[in-house]
Amino acid sequence: MKSKTGKKRCQILILQGSPNPKGNTARLADEIARGAMASGAKVKEFFIQEHNIASCTACQSCQEPKARGCIIDDDMDDIYKAALEADAIVFASPIYWFTVSAQIKQVIDRFYAFVTSDGHRFAGKRIGLAFTFGGDDAVDSGCINAIRTFQDAFAYINAPICGMVYGSSGNGPVRKNKALLQKAFALGKKLAKNG
Ligand SMILES: Cc1cc2nc3c(=O)[nH]c(=O)nc-3n(C[C@H](O)[C@H](O)[C@H](O)COP(=O)(O)O)c2cc1C
Repeated sequence: MKSKTGKKRCQILILQGSPNPKGNTARLADEIARGAMASGAKVKEFFIQEHNIASCTACQSCQEPKARGCIIDDDMDDIYKAALEADAIVFASPIYWFTVSAQIKQVIDRFYAFVTSDGHRFAGKRIGLAFTFGGDDAVDSGCINAIRTFQDAFAYINAPICGMVYGSSGNGPVRKNKALLQKAFALGKKLAKNG
């Protein structure tokens, strides 16, 4: 899609991994989207909970020499398509049991089909992360484990993470945390900038 100036608009995909459509993680993701749109980006969001996404079965079909992706026929097809079109991808998750939610983990596992011996399909995409938790800070809550998961995963495929925002909902909802929302807005702008 092109903007009024004829320049291709940056496309941002947000994968919202909280089961709560109006909760803290959703609010943080919304603010990233607002920042991105303020910079002229087009934003597409998937509320993962609403989609039929199966677990990776480790069949390894996607790793075969002439494979054309994952053979499971479900809503992940829409996410694969949106991810391929996106210039930037945001993974947003609440912290559950000291790491990412099951919804986000399900999607990450299915992105195995994007990583083959020929290379990976995240090349050139900017990655953003957003987390909320009930604990006091990133260490106490286990958010550090979620951060580390993404850092290790994207370091493994040599795709740098562009930025991250995270904060506690333990002492009040994220929607009232102006400083955190400002950081999320700024991350949205940053993700959109080089589009
Ligand atoms: C199943 C479950 C597990 C949770 N585990 C943690 C945890 O390990 N650490 C933490 O700080 N908060 C934990 N929480 C609190 C949530 O991370 C926190 O309330 C978060 O902001 C919820 O996001 P939401 O409003 O998008 O649903 C847990 C909540 C649930 C429902």
